[in-house]
Amino acid sequence: MGREDVIREELGSLHGIPLYKCFIEGWPQVEAFQARPDDLLIATYPKSGTTWLSEILDMIYHDGNVEKCRRDAIFNRVPFLEMKVPEMLSGVELLEKTLSPRLVKTHLPVQLLPTSFWDKNCKVIYMARNPKDVVISYYYFYQMAKLHPDPGTLNEFLETFMAAGVGHIPLAYGSWYEHVRGWWEKRQEKQLLYLFYEDMKKDPQQEVQKILRFLGKEVAEGTVARILHHTSFQEMRKNPAANYETMPTAFMDHSLSPFLRKGISGDWKNHFTVAQNEHFDRHYREHMEGSDLHFQMEV
Ligand code: A3P
Repeated sequence: MGREDVIREELGSLHGIPLYKCFIEGWPQVEAFQARPDDLLIATYPKSGTTWLSEILDMIYHDGNVEKCRRDAIFNRVPFLEMKVPEMLSGVELLEKTLSPRLVKTHLPVQLLPTSFWDKNCKVIYMARNPKDVVISYYYFYQMAKLHPDPGTLNEFLETFMAAGVGHIPLAYGSWYEHVRGWWEKRQEKQLLYLFYEDMKKDPQQEVQKILRFLGKEVAEGTVARILHHTSFQEMRKNPAANYETMPTAFMDHSLSPFLRKGISGDWKNHFTVAQNEHFDRHYREHMEGSDLHFQMEV
């Protein structure tokens, strides 16, 4: 299988979750993945700030040493567990070559996480983002990241996003609602820190302190300041080790939309019509009913 075979291919289904067929092909290796007790798992629904959180954690792991964090692209420093595309090392292959302590990225819904992470009692940091900004970010990402099928118009994509979870809908990783709620429930019983993109936008220093406490790490005051500066949107956007520009253009075409696109909360207001917003709000209320999980739609 070559690269051209996976471009704009329709999604397959992994235990009922829509996913890229090339990833599904590598599933047996993912399912059998052996976690190590000191692995830290970064789990997110796509477009929720995964790369931002990954860069922050790599900085923490390297005591705020910017040069060390430029050693390689973010997708190599923080391997993407279930990733498998032609002509690149898979996430599992990359992880096997990575020295501990490892940072591991995944977008898997909680029920599909390889059991080894739970058996080894690994720490997990989950980051969630409000669904209106996620759907807009995902819409642009579908265009530039060509593993995805064509998203159609924004209105069509909004319908796709809302319909996910019932039948086979072409939304990679399936329902946002099930994802954020599934991981939210897990925090009761596991070593899991549940963060929000909006909180990170509002007060990144406070959130970094939360992460440090969760990891049981202490760093000098100046280190936190360096971490915050290096992981700001402006700095990450121009950093080739963080902005995905070294990913082959066959997979990601930044001329269609840059990976670090806007980096704000509330961009959905520039895209949703009043009618779309009302429809989305109704759908959101129905699907979040009974949950104590709440989102800020802007900051
Ligand atoms: P936008 O498309 O809204 O700009 P992920 O890494 O999970 O794919 O998420 C990508 C989203 O996070 C993009 O959102 C991207 O711009 C945003 N992002 C990445 N780094 C960021 C940073 N340092 N600060 C704020 N947002 C950031």
